[in-house]
Amino acid sequence: MAKAKTVYVCQNCGAESSKWIGKCYSCGAWNSFVEEVVVPKAKSSVAAAYSSSAEKSKPVPLSEISVDDLPRIDVGNRELNRVLGGGLVPGAMVLIGGEPGIGKSTLVLQMALHMNNMKILYVSGEESPQQIKLRGERVFSGSTEHCLIVSETSLERILTHTKNTAPDILVVDSVQTLQTERIESAPGSVSQIRECTAELLRFSKERNLPVMLIGHINKEGSLAGPKVLEHMVDVVLQFEGDRNHMYRILRSIKNRFGSTDEIGIFEMQQGGLREVQNPSELLLSHHDNAMSGVSVAAATEGMRPFLIEVQALTSTAAYGTPQRSSTGFDIRRLNMLLAVLEKRAGFKLSAKDVFLNIAGGLKVNDPGIDLAVVSSILSSNIDIALSPDICLAGEVGLSGEIRPVTRITQRIGEAAKLGFKTIIVPVYPKGVDFSSAEIEIKQVSKIEEAFRLLFG
Ligand code: TYD
Ligand code: MG
Repeated sequence: MAKAKTVYVCQNCGAESSKWIGKCYSCGAWNSFVEEVVVPKAKSSVAAAYSSSAEKSKPVPLSEISVDDLPRIDVGNRELNRVLGGGLVPGAMVLIGGEPGIGKSTLVLQMALHMNNMKILYVSGEESPQQIKLRGERVFSGSTEHCLIVSETSLERILTHTKNTAPDILVVDSVQTLQTERIESAPGSVSQIRECTAELLRFSKERNLPVMLIGHINKEGSLAGPKVLEHMVDVVLQFEGDRNHMYRILRSIKNRFGSTDEIGIFEMQQGGLREVQNPSELLLSHHDNAMSGVSVAAATEGMRPFLIEVQALTSTAAYGTPQRSSTGFDIRRLNMLLAVLEKRAGFKLSAKDVFLNIAGGLKVNDPGIDLAVVSSILSSNIDIALSPDICLAGEVGLSGEIRPVTRITQRIGEAAKLGFKTIIVPVYPKGVDFSSAEIEIKQVSKIEEAFRLLFG
């Protein structure tokens, strides 16, 4: 047997070093090196590999490769199908990342139970079969014959189970619990994760078996430990949301078989995750009487437009330094918008506390909601409510100009669909045709113009 070798491995990025070092030379993380024992694989001669591997693949011209028949497996869930780019591709390895408790296991189990035309092997290294059964009963009622459950962390045994049961889809929850005998380091360490994933990948590609792999996310928000994982797998999905709210967004970060612009929206309920087909209806609270400090933004997330309520509250600052607080919106951007408001709308920055909240617990990065943010703040400041029939979209620049935003026709369409009568948008060049929209469109180029329209 080859002699065991020890190396120091950065638990953040997977960089290796022969000596312990305090700061990773590759990713800059501090104190991230841990000693790991690696048993090197016995290498066969290059000549042998050369002759044996040549038969498996055959070079063909690009023109002769057909992609029409790239088969997709319908996973029985519209939102998940959408994020996967139309379904699961056979032989694809999908990594689903997310913070603990966000609902990754629920999502995947629910998917597995609903796909009753497929045989699914669900391997859990985190929960006992009894726990999984209890969860399964909460989220699904119906026949569950097709879904096999096993609690296992040893990669070798998982592969044996998979060979014996020959499932159509393999689910592994989670990659951090996997352990191979070939490496002596603890489960969850970078070399274990890397080696186990590589082995699973090889196995899945050989058999054309799709694998759904669950991975945890660390404090910094990246997939715990190895960036290396993201390079290896075909699809990386991130499940995110505020645990205290019920909405969850499934985002595609990498997809070798589709676009990464798609998102899936779910709502966590007593009986598991519910697909949200029309997010706008849920994110808007339908007040009968208009209130000051509330406006509706036509936002987009990835490809999907949705309307979202932006709430602001301003009050006289009780202490010397005014407070700024923001939920779901970047605080630095809020400060910038406040400075623009001071310059353009006579808003006294230093005298006011400002609280901003994006309803529903969503985090919105779309700059297209800027106009709604400033309108809410001003509305609360002067205590005049906006008309509930108005919706806004536009990015605010430093000089108070309203800048064009992406996918404006989709935003307008969504606002029209939900019954808004007017939408305020930036000025677009002549080429953009708004004539087909069934909503009144008002174009503004300066923040003052928007305020005049809103507050007279
Ligand atoms: P889970 O799937 O265990 O999260 P993860 O695998 O990402 O760690 O989800 C756990 C949370 O979901 C838990 O806090 C309870 C909640 N939940 C519901 O609200 N309803 C349900 O039907 C289920 C199964 C879970
Ligand atoms: Mg879990």
